[in-house]
Amino acid sequence: MNDNVLLTEERDGIAILTLNRPDVMNAINFSLLHAIKKMIEELRVKQGIRVIITGAGEKAFCAGADLKERALLNDQQVKEFIFTIRNLFTSIALLNKPVIAAINGVALGGGTELSLACDIRMAAMNASMGLTETRLAIIPGAGGTQRLPRLIGCGKAKELIFTGRRVGAQEALRIGLVNQICEQESLLEECKKTASMICETGPIAIEQAKYAIDYGLETDIHTGLAIESNAYWVTIPTEDRLEGIAAFREKRKPVYKGK
Ligand code: COA
Repeated sequence: MNDNVLLTEERDGIAILTLNRPDVMNAINFSLLHAIKKMIEELRVKQGIRVIITGAGEKAFCAGADLKERALLNDQQVKEFIFTIRNLFTSIALLNKPVIAAINGVALGGGTELSLACDIRMAAMNASMGLTETRLAIIPGAGGTQRLPRLIGCGKAKELIFTGRRVGAQEALRIGLVNQICEQESLLEECKKTASMICETGPIAIEQAKYAIDYGLETDIHTGLAIESNAYWVTIPTEDRLEGIAAFREKRKPVYKGK
């Protein structure tokens, strides 16, 4: 039995979380749920960090809920699992840091839902994604019915959820389910490149931009613009804003401190 269900590595301002249950395609059981939850809460209060989530091995990002564990749960425990995973993915979506999903293979059910809770999705050519829950006579329960239509549109989301069809990397790119696709070998490097570019920007600006986009999208345009306005005001008194202007004047790279 593998106790180290979540590997974490932190370098150059980037934290890489690796779901580490490759023998079951990184399926999520209670133990992995709790491990991710603990790590997300730790990251929330850490400064100057960007996050990448991926899966161990070359086959899977995450094959969704652990169906072997599920078979042993009673109705109440299934409810508890769904409640916990939905709240966990929402806490990832609301994390005050940018999160990139490195989809290195199969991402089904909860695996696709996990990627939907991330800000940016990058997939390897062997990725296979889908909300396949209806094939098990259940529905996506970790945000999929809400986040998929918001990302790719209602019609396409209904088609994918109603049929439980899987999509490959090319189709995922075409329908806007992922931002970028690349060869499996270069996936993590590509994700790190994107994370490094984000690292060059002001951390408070990124936090506020994410806040404005996520909350603004859920409301009408005028309320959204008011949210943007308030988020902008937060950046004005920061040291980083002055540093950005000074660096431009002095023709050098800015050094942002998240202050
Ligand atoms: N929960 C628990 N174990 C899982 C799993 C899951 N969600 N998905 C895969 N596994 C296990 C398999 O049982 C198998 O273990 P075993 O060797 O002890 O039998 C191992 O991972 C490898 O999977 P296998 O099915 O042999 O590989 P494959 O390449 O033929 O197929 C999948 C891979 C992911 C397509 C297939 O396993 C599958 O459909 N899994 C279920 C995915 C799903 O419906 N997720 C939504 C849950 S709501």
